[in-house]
Amino acid sequence: MDLKLNDKTALVTGSTAGIGLEIARALAVEGAKVFVTGRAQDRLDAAVADIRASGGEKIEGVLADAATADGAAAILEAVPAVDILVNNLGIYEMKAFVDISDEDWLHLFEVNVMSGVRLSRGYFPGMLERDWGRVIFISSESGLAIPGEMVHYGMTKSAQLAVARGMAQQTKGTGVTVNSVLPGPTRAAAIADFLKSVSSNPDASPEEHEAEFFTKHRSSSLLQRMIEPQEIASLVAYVASPLSAATNGASLKAEGGLVTTIA
Ligand SMILES: NC(=O)c1ccc[n+]([C@@H]2O[C@H](COP(=O)([O-])OP(=O)(O)OC[C@H]3O[C@@H](n4cnc5c(N)ncnc54)[C@H](OP(=O)(O)O)[C@@H]3O)[C@@H](O)[C@H]2O)c1
Repeated sequence: MDLKLNDKTALVTGSTAGIGLEIARALAVEGAKVFVTGRAQDRLDAAVADIRASGGEKIEGVLADAATADGAAAILEAVPAVDILVNNLGIYEMKAFVDISDEDWLHLFEVNVMSGVRLSRGYFPGMLERDWGRVIFISSESGLAIPGEMVHYGMTKSAQLAVARGMAQQTKGTGVTVNSVLPGPTRAAAIADFLKSVSSNPDASPEEHEAEFFTKHRSSSLLQRMIEPQEIASLVAYVASPLSAATNGASLKAEGGLVTTIA
């Protein structure tokens, strides 16, 4: 299937690793011109080289911290217009509700929600003017099924769904869409440590940690394994494509069937 991305420009935040890197790769390999963002030049260069080696020729790095107002301003100055914005940057931490400080709440909100809000504010008007665009928020199944061990993270992921849907309301009659993609537990650099931290036997192998995690903590998952970041990226690449024109204001689950409700 040709996703018809050859003449499109995309920017993916937090894209030197994990899901963001694979989204950037998928879009670049499909022919889009793609900007990756990151906070360190060496990681940025490595991501650009990695994507280029997979056949994504039109790939560039923007050195900036998308989680801050200054970083967002720097990104908007370096890349004034895009056709596709993927608000991927997001962080999480396990913490008991009573231990989550004001600073923790605000920090997660700033990184996970405001990063997407600021860049959307910068790019969305141009998309509406040009009558074509895609804004995609990488939320999480945790935005629907709020995890008791990280309520503040769940709050930010629900907030992204609200922002995306509210933005979509403003696209009526245009070629712009705003959607959210909701991954479930996905293999990324920090996940191995996370699985180990919730395991009953930290000395067990990574495979055993993963198996125990799904048996004990994510028993409703139909996939019963970690999602590969490429399996999120393929859905995002479709949503970014002109082929997905009829999908707007949607919250699209890619969580391995973990959420048991049908909506
Ligand atoms: N992995 C999962 O299981 C999972 C599940 C559901 C939803 N999600 C969502 O998917 C998105 C990507 O998650 P991921 O697990 O793929 O990410 P990740 O691998 O943990 O991080 C990816 C990027 O985030 C940047 N980053 C990390 N901490 C940062 C900070 N404090 N400020 C600014 N940049 C920071 C890093 O770039 P530099 O250090 O190079 O700047 C890195 O390239 C997030 O929105 C997450 O909530 C993930």
